[in-house]
Amino acid sequence: MKKTERLDKILAHTGFGTRREIKELVKRGLVSVNGKPIKDSGMQVNPESDEIMADGERVEYREFVYLMLHKPPGYVSATEDVRDRTVLELLGEEYRHFELFPVGRLDKDTEGLLLLTNDGKLAHQLLTPRKHVPKTYYAEVSGFVTEEDREAFRKGVELDDGYVTLPAELVIEHAEELETGKLSRIRLTIHEGKFHQVKRMFQSVGKQVVYLKRLSMGQLTLDDTLRLGEYRELTEMETEGLRNS
Ligand code: URA
Repeated sequence: MKKTERLDKILAHTGFGTRREIKELVKRGLVSVNGKPIKDSGMQVNPESDEIMADGERVEYREFVYLMLHKPPGYVSATEDVRDRTVLELLGEEYRHFELFPVGRLDKDTEGLLLLTNDGKLAHQLLTPRKHVPKTYYAEVSGFVTEEDREAFRKGVELDDGYVTLPAELVIEHAEELETGKLSRIRLTIHEGKFHQVKRMFQSVGKQVVYLKRLSMGQLTLDDTLRLGEYRELTEMETEGLRNS
Protein backbone atom coordinates (compact mmCIF):
# COMPACT_ATOMS: atom_id res chain seq x y z
CA MET A 1 0.00 0.00 0.00
CA LYS A 2 1.18 3.53 -0.85
CA LYS A 3 2.40 5.43 2.17
CA THR A 4 1.91 9.04 1.08
CA GLU A 5 -0.63 10.80 -1.12
CA ARG A 6 -1.32 14.36 -2.21
CA LEU A 7 -3.46 16.12 0.38
CA ASP A 8 -5.87 17.59 -2.20
CA LYS A 9 -6.46 14.11 -3.63
CA ILE A 10 -7.30 12.74 -0.21
CA LEU A 11 -9.67 15.61 0.51
CA ALA A 12 -11.36 15.24 -2.87
CA HIS A 13 -11.74 11.53 -2.21
CA THR A 14 -13.33 12.11 1.18
CA GLY A 15 -15.91 14.58 -0.09
CA PHE A 16 -14.43 17.99 0.69
CA GLY A 17 -15.09 19.31 -2.79
CA THR A 18 -13.25 19.80 -6.04
CA ARG A 19 -9.54 20.58 -6.15
CA ARG A 20 -10.43 24.27 -6.57
CA GLU A 21 -12.74 24.28 -3.56
CA ILE A 22 -10.07 22.52 -1.56
CA LYS A 23 -7.47 25.13 -2.55
CA GLU A 24 -9.90 27.74 -1.25
CA LEU A 25 -10.28 25.90 2.10
CA VAL A 26 -6.49 25.77 2.38
CA LYS A 27 -6.20 29.48 1.54
CA ARG A 28 -8.64 30.28 4.30
CA GLY A 29 -6.48 28.34 6.79
CA LEU A 30 -9.15 25.68 7.34
CA VAL A 31 -6.95 22.66 6.64
CA SER A 32 -4.34 21.40 9.07
CA VAL A 33 -2.00 18.45 9.25
CA ASN A 34 -0.93 17.29 12.72
CA GLY A 35 -2.25 20.49 14.22
CA LYS A 36 -0.48 22.89 11.84
CA PRO A 37 -2.43 24.87 9.24
CA ILE A 38 -0.98 24.12 5.84
CA LYS A 39 -0.43 26.33 2.80
CA ASP A 40 0.20 23.86 0.00
CA SER A 41 -2.80 21.72 -0.96
CA GLY A 42 -0.47 19.50 -3.00
CA MET A 43 1.69 18.47 -0.05
CA GLN A 44 2.35 14.79 0.54
CA VAL A 45 0.77 13.30 3.64
CA ASN A 46 0.39 9.84 5.08
CA PRO A 47 -3.36 9.38 5.56
CA GLU A 48 -2.81 6.51 7.98
CA SER A 49 -0.51 8.27 10.41
CA ASP A 50 -1.05 12.01 9.86
CA GLU A 51 -3.99 13.70 11.52
CA ILE A 52 -5.77 15.72 8.86
CA MET A 53 -8.46 18.27 9.77
CA ALA A 54 -10.52 20.11 7.18
CA ASP A 55 -13.25 22.63 7.83
CA GLY A 56 -13.43 21.57 11.47
CA GLU A 57 -13.74 17.86 10.71
CA ARG A 58 -11.31 14.99 11.18
CA VAL A 59 -10.65 13.43 7.78
CA GLU A 60 -11.24 9.68 7.79
CA TYR A 61 -9.47 8.44 4.72
CA ARG A 62 -9.97 5.10 3.11
CA GLU A 63 -9.29 4.06 -0.37
CA PHE A 64 -11.74 1.22 -0.89
CA VAL A 65 -15.40 0.88 -0.03
CA TYR A 66 -17.46 -2.33 -0.23
CA LEU A 67 -21.25 -2.13 -0.09
CA MET A 68 -23.83 -4.88 -0.10
CA LEU A 69 -27.02 -3.65 -1.78
CA HIS A 70 -30.37 -5.41 -1.77
CA LYS A 71 -31.16 -4.44 -5.34
CA PRO A 72 -34.78 -3.59 -6.00
CA PRO A 73 -36.41 -4.21 -9.40
CA GLY A 74 -36.55 -1.26 -11.76
CA TYR A 75 -32.88 -0.24 -11.49
CA VAL A 76 -30.09 -1.11 -13.90
CA SER A 77 -26.69 -2.37 -12.73
CA ALA A 78 -24.66 0.39 -14.33
CA THR A 79 -22.95 3.60 -13.30
CA GLU A 80 -24.94 5.66 -15.79
CA ASP A 81 -27.80 5.15 -18.17
CA VAL A 82 -29.72 7.47 -20.45
CA ARG A 83 -33.12 5.88 -19.87
CA ASP A 84 -33.21 4.01 -16.58
CA ARG A 85 -32.38 4.70 -12.97
CA THR A 86 -29.09 3.14 -11.92
CA VAL A 87 -28.29 1.33 -8.68
CA LEU A 88 -25.87 4.15 -7.83
CA GLU A 89 -28.84 6.49 -7.47
CA LEU A 90 -29.86 4.48 -4.40
CA LEU A 91 -26.74 5.54 -2.50
CA GLY A 92 -26.47 8.45 -0.09
CA GLU A 93 -24.35 11.55 -0.66
CA GLU A 94 -21.53 10.20 1.50
CA TYR A 95 -20.74 7.48 -1.05
CA ARG A 96 -20.99 9.57 -4.21
CA HIS A 97 -17.33 10.58 -4.46
CA PHE A 98 -15.95 7.04 -4.15
CA GLU A 99 -16.60 6.15 -7.79
CA LEU A 100 -18.28 2.87 -6.89
CA PHE A 101 -19.44 0.45 -9.54
CA PRO A 102 -21.51 -2.74 -9.44
CA VAL A 103 -19.57 -6.01 -9.54
CA GLY A 104 -21.29 -7.81 -12.39
CA ARG A 105 -24.84 -7.28 -13.49
CA LEU A 106 -28.31 -8.20 -12.36
CA ASP A 107 -31.10 -7.64 -14.87
CA LYS A 108 -33.35 -4.62 -14.36
CA ASP A 109 -36.14 -6.83 -12.99
CA THR A 110 -33.84 -9.02 -10.82
CA GLU A 111 -33.59 -8.42 -7.09
CA GLY A 112 -31.06 -9.39 -4.47
CA LEU A 113 -27.40 -9.24 -3.66
CA LEU A 114 -25.33 -6.73 -5.57
CA LEU A 115 -21.84 -5.79 -4.48
CA LEU A 116 -20.71 -2.21 -5.11
CA THR A 117 -17.07 -1.27 -4.74
CA ASN A 118 -14.24 0.80 -6.15
CA ASP A 119 -11.77 -2.05 -5.70
CA GLY A 120 -11.11 -3.05 -9.30
CA LYS A 121 -8.79 -5.85 -8.35
CA LEU A 122 -11.33 -7.62 -6.16
CA ALA A 123 -14.05 -7.07 -8.77
CA HIS A 124 -11.86 -8.65 -11.42
CA GLN A 125 -11.09 -11.58 -9.14
CA LEU A 126 -14.81 -12.22 -8.62
CA LEU A 127 -15.78 -11.83 -12.26
CA THR A 128 -12.99 -13.56 -14.10
CA PRO A 129 -14.40 -16.65 -15.84
CA ARG A 130 -11.31 -18.61 -14.75
CA LYS A 131 -12.35 -18.54 -11.09
CA HIS A 132 -15.90 -19.94 -11.44
CA VAL A 133 -17.11 -18.02 -8.40
CA PRO A 134 -20.49 -19.57 -7.46
CA LYS A 135 -23.66 -17.45 -7.47
CA THR A 136 -26.86 -18.75 -5.94
CA TYR A 137 -30.30 -17.54 -7.02
CA TYR A 138 -33.81 -18.09 -5.77
CA ALA A 139 -36.33 -18.20 -8.61
CA GLU A 140 -40.00 -18.73 -9.23
CA VAL A 141 -40.54 -20.53 -12.46
CA SER A 142 -43.77 -20.98 -14.35
CA GLY A 143 -44.00 -24.65 -15.18
CA PHE A 144 -43.24 -27.80 -13.27
CA VAL A 145 -39.49 -28.09 -12.64
CA THR A 146 -38.51 -31.74 -12.59
CA GLU A 147 -35.72 -34.14 -11.65
CA GLU A 148 -34.88 -34.30 -15.37
CA ASP A 149 -34.26 -30.55 -15.36
CA ARG A 150 -32.02 -30.99 -12.33
CA GLU A 151 -30.06 -33.64 -14.15
CA ALA A 152 -29.87 -31.53 -17.33
CA PHE A 153 -28.52 -28.54 -15.37
CA ARG A 154 -26.01 -30.79 -13.64
CA LYS A 155 -24.66 -31.87 -17.02
CA GLY A 156 -24.94 -28.47 -18.70
CA VAL A 157 -27.64 -27.20 -21.05
CA GLU A 158 -27.40 -25.56 -24.45
CA LEU A 159 -28.51 -21.93 -24.50
CA ASP A 160 -30.16 -20.20 -27.46
CA ASP A 161 -26.77 -19.11 -28.86
CA GLY A 162 -25.33 -22.63 -28.77
CA TYR A 163 -23.27 -22.10 -25.61
CA VAL A 164 -23.27 -25.10 -23.27
CA THR A 165 -23.37 -24.10 -19.60
CA LEU A 166 -21.05 -25.40 -16.93
CA PRO A 167 -22.56 -27.86 -14.44
CA ALA A 168 -24.99 -26.08 -12.12
CA GLU A 169 -26.78 -27.23 -8.98
CA LEU A 170 -30.56 -27.04 -8.97
CA VAL A 171 -32.57 -27.52 -5.79
CA ILE A 172 -36.33 -27.85 -6.25
CA GLU A 173 -37.88 -26.36 -3.12
CA HIS A 174 -41.46 -26.64 -4.15
CA ALA A 175 -43.43 -27.36 -7.28
CA GLU A 176 -47.18 -26.97 -7.23
CA GLU A 177 -50.28 -26.98 -9.37
CA LEU A 178 -52.14 -23.70 -9.01
CA GLU A 179 -55.53 -22.79 -10.43
CA THR A 180 -53.68 -20.53 -12.80
CA GLY A 181 -51.13 -23.13 -13.85
CA LYS A 182 -47.95 -24.60 -12.41
CA LEU A 183 -45.34 -22.81 -10.35
CA SER A 184 -41.99 -24.00 -9.03
CA ARG A 185 -39.75 -22.44 -6.41
CA ILE A 186 -36.12 -23.32 -6.86
CA ARG A 187 -32.56 -22.45 -5.96
CA LEU A 188 -29.89 -22.55 -8.61
CA THR A 189 -26.14 -22.22 -8.19
CA ILE A 190 -24.16 -21.34 -11.28
CA HIS A 191 -20.40 -20.92 -11.66
CA GLU A 192 -20.29 -18.39 -14.48
CA GLY A 193 -22.21 -15.32 -15.52
CA LYS A 194 -23.50 -15.33 -19.06
CA PHE A 195 -26.04 -12.71 -20.09
CA HIS A 196 -29.52 -13.57 -18.63
CA GLN A 197 -28.05 -16.93 -17.72
CA VAL A 198 -30.64 -18.23 -15.24
CA LYS A 199 -33.57 -17.16 -17.41
CA ARG A 200 -31.99 -18.70 -20.51
CA MET A 201 -31.20 -21.96 -18.73
CA PHE A 202 -34.86 -22.38 -17.85
CA GLN A 203 -35.86 -21.37 -21.37
CA SER A 204 -33.69 -24.20 -22.65
CA VAL A 205 -35.89 -26.67 -20.74
CA GLY A 206 -39.10 -24.94 -21.87
CA LYS A 207 -39.84 -22.93 -18.71
CA GLN A 208 -39.99 -19.29 -17.77
CA VAL A 209 -38.49 -17.49 -14.79
CA VAL A 210 -41.10 -15.10 -13.41
CA TYR A 211 -39.18 -13.89 -10.35
CA LEU A 212 -35.44 -13.88 -9.73
CA LYS A 213 -33.39 -12.93 -6.71
CA ARG A 214 -29.65 -13.41 -6.09
CA LEU A 215 -28.91 -14.79 -2.64
CA SER A 216 -25.14 -15.13 -2.65
CA MET A 217 -21.94 -14.57 -4.55
CA GLY A 218 -18.87 -16.52 -3.50
CA GLN A 219 -18.78 -16.46 0.28
CA LEU A 220 -20.97 -13.37 0.51
CA THR A 221 -24.64 -13.89 1.43
CA LEU A 222 -27.36 -11.26 1.25
CA ASP A 223 -28.12 -9.88 4.71
CA ASP A 224 -31.81 -10.67 5.12
CA THR A 225 -32.37 -7.65 7.39
CA LEU A 226 -31.75 -5.38 4.38
CA ARG A 227 -34.99 -4.38 2.75
CA LEU A 228 -35.24 -3.76 -1.00
CA GLY A 229 -33.12 -0.72 -1.87
CA GLU A 230 -31.20 -0.78 1.41
CA TYR A 231 -27.45 -1.29 1.66
CA ARG A 232 -24.66 -1.50 4.17
CA GLU A 233 -20.89 -1.73 4.23
CA LEU A 234 -19.37 -5.19 4.37
CA THR A 235 -17.74 -6.26 7.60
CA GLU A 236 -14.03 -7.02 7.48
CA MET A 237 -14.81 -10.70 7.72
CA GLU A 238 -17.14 -10.50 4.73
CA THR A 239 -14.55 -8.65 2.66
CA GLU A 240 -11.92 -11.22 3.60
CA GLY A 241 -14.35 -14.02 2.72
CA LEU A 242 -14.90 -12.49 -0.72
CA ARG A 243 -11.18 -12.31 -1.35
CA ASN A 244 -11.03 -16.06 -0.68
CA SER A 245 -14.08 -16.85 -2.82
N1 URA B 1 -29.43 -14.62 -14.58
C1 URA B 1 -30.42 -13.92 -15.16
O1 URA B 1 -31.12 -14.41 -16.02
N2 URA B 1 -30.62 -12.66 -14.74
C2 URA B 1 -29.89 -12.06 -13.75
O2 URA B 1 -30.15 -10.91 -13.41
C3 URA B 1 -28.89 -12.83 -13.16
C4 URA B 1 -28.66 -14.11 -13.60
